[in-house]
Amino acid sequence: MTDKRLPELAKHLKRELMPNHVAIIMDGNGRWAKSRGRPRVYGHRCGADSVRAVVEAADQLGIKVLSLYAFSEENWGRPSHEVLAIMTLLNTYLLKEREELKANNVQLRVMGRIERLPEKSRKLLRETQEFLGECTGLVLNIALSYGGRSEIVDACRSVARRVQSGELALQDINADVVAGAMYNCDLPTPDLLIRTSGEQRLSNFMLWQMAYTEFYFTEVHWPDFRKDQLVKALYEYTRRQRRFGVLAEDIDAAFKADEAVADDLTLTAECHD
Ligand code: FPP
Repeated sequence: MTDKRLPELAKHLKRELMPNHVAIIMDGNGRWAKSRGRPRVYGHRCGADSVRAVVEAADQLGIKVLSLYAFSEENWGRPSHEVLAIMTLLNTYLLKEREELKANNVQLRVMGRIERLPEKSRKLLRETQEFLGECTGLVLNIALSYGGRSEIVDACRSVARRVQSGELALQDINADVVAGAMYNCDLPTPDLLIRTSGEQRLSNFMLWQMAYTEFYFTEVHWPDFRKDQLVKALYEYTRRQRRFGVLAEDIDAAFKADEAVADDLTLTAECHD
């Protein structure tokens, strides 16, 4: 299967097997830029174009929630000009994409220690959320100044406060109570995690929520990750579900009938990742 045939793959995605929530660790902007002899921030700029493309594609493909790891708590340790460049790209994205997001009925959520972001970014996030307030479609959940362990710490604090105030008994703390204290806890947990650029680790992303998430790793750097790559990841996910034997027999039978096509479309040796 060559990359030229990737667009065809979208036609073979089975709606009933698609993930509701896709989470993405957008990695490799720096390496992508370096390989072109360009500064790291150029990679982030092109990475922002991938954000645009992937949000649009996820919406078209019927994904319900898209969580993007845009800036980790650890990322504050990067050189200040790089932090500033990422915040500026975020601001530009919010300003430029608002109308388009609204036209596509996209909702905006954020998670992380947002209070650490520059005032301008916080203001733009607030305004964009208000602007998209009536939207009911795809939930775009952006992780900013986010750390999975910090999220769990914040959840522990909030549960402890409820115990301290007498609202909650110690013996009533269970997984549901803890889950209910996580950021954006009304969203479903991710079905699929995609990480670009070859690294195969979680890097402190949605640790609690990823307990049963399927992982998909690709060598493709984030600035090269567009709709075709997303479709490929989704296709792999739908196949993987079948392999784990979790599907109803009728769905499995339908899949078998389609096997010749599916096998033909399996993306392995010929594809660049
Ligand atoms: C990881 O690549 C990427 C980031 C830390 C920043 C991601 C930011 C954007 C895609 C742009 C702005 C965001 C939005 C939502 C519009 P890296 O720099 O760690 O790459 P490397 O591992 O190759 O160095």
